[in-house]
Amino acid sequence: MVPFLDLKAQYRQIKPEVDAAISRAIESTQFVLGPEVSAFEKCFAEYCNVGHCLAVNSGTSALHLALVAAGVGPGDEVITVSMTFVATTAAVLYSGAKPVFVDVDPVTWTMDPAQVEAAITERTKAILPVHLHGLMADMDPIMEIARRRGLVVIEDAAQAHGAEYKGRRAGSIGDFGCFSFYPGKNLGAYGEGGAVVTNQPELAKRVALLRDWGQETKYNHVVSGYNYRMDGIQGAVLNVKMNYIEAWTEGRRAAAADYDRQLAKLECVRPQPPAHSRHVYHVYALCLPRRDETLSMLQQAGIGVGIHYPVPVHLQKAYADLGYRAGDLPVTEGLAKRFLSLPIYPELRPEHVAEVVEQLRKIRFVEAA
Ligand SMILES: Cc1ncc(COP(=O)(O)O)c(C=O)c1O
Repeated sequence: MVPFLDLKAQYRQIKPEVDAAISRAIESTQFVLGPEVSAFEKCFAEYCNVGHCLAVNSGTSALHLALVAAGVGPGDEVITVSMTFVATTAAVLYSGAKPVFVDVDPVTWTMDPAQVEAAITERTKAILPVHLHGLMADMDPIMEIARRRGLVVIEDAAQAHGAEYKGRRAGSIGDFGCFSFYPGKNLGAYGEGGAVVTNQPELAKRVALLRDWGQETKYNHVVSGYNYRMDGIQGAVLNVKMNYIEAWTEGRRAAAADYDRQLAKLECVRPQPPAHSRHVYHVYALCLPRRDETLSMLQQAGIGVGIHYPVPVHLQKAYADLGYRAGDLPVTEGLAKRFLSLPIYPELRPEHVAEVVEQLRKIRFVEAA
């Protein structure tokens, strides 16, 4: 038995500290924003190597706020990918703009920069790459196109806390970086949470206003805003977890390296991060022939597995109005049929990895010829 995720194991490790922090937050009665949240913002900004962090109530809110703060609205287009969680697309639609999908690169599984230029129209306002599974998109060519064409870049870093691209941290390259602290994320709150990071003070100010009803001072609303503030308790929990994030990330990377070694002989495509990247393995996905049979055999053997993601956003019923059809994004659609995510978390032991690999080995059809 190897569960897909084990949040209890992490809680056991930090229980005294996190329980005390939650109690402190309750005693202070600073339930919304407040000192715990401010302390977390300072710490997370440093971690991302950016000037500003604004903590919000989810990753979806972070994306929505970044889009609105960038001036994206009705009539605009935002170039993004379909191989992601639906929140990326939903946030674009919340802003009133239209998502325009480009395909992903077959090796990194992130936005293919070679396809971006052709997708630009006079309505394009922003590019929204997703750092899928914890691997950053190929940011240099994306930034080069954006700067040349006057477009805003918003990094969806919901799965990529601490990931790096050529020595630069996720969230620090684009105009904005958006993070999720959903409990199962690499940095997870005890409820919903998210953050927008930026190096531009004016944009930070705008995000801060928009997340708190557009209030400059109490009851002085200077822009039409939202209630997207982070809870004090979540700030307290995240502050404790910031002491562990690097060790936990290295734990994930060690588990991934273990999988890499042990899976080398199996006929499957493993994550292939470029040498200049620090992959933080929010997800460890394989790309397999006959994925569905493998999935059910692993489940029968007590191995927790997942698919990230089985149906790309452009083929979801909810987004049929966008007008995409099967065949429009062949790489994305091919990956959705073959992706299989294995258990990965900092507490995953070498014997767990060995058990997962042992079960995969029993499945003859993934064995190399
Ligand atoms: C790539 C991506 N973007 C956005 C989100 C949205 O974050 P949240 O669930 O915190 O709203 C998620 C999280 O599920 C995600 O994985």
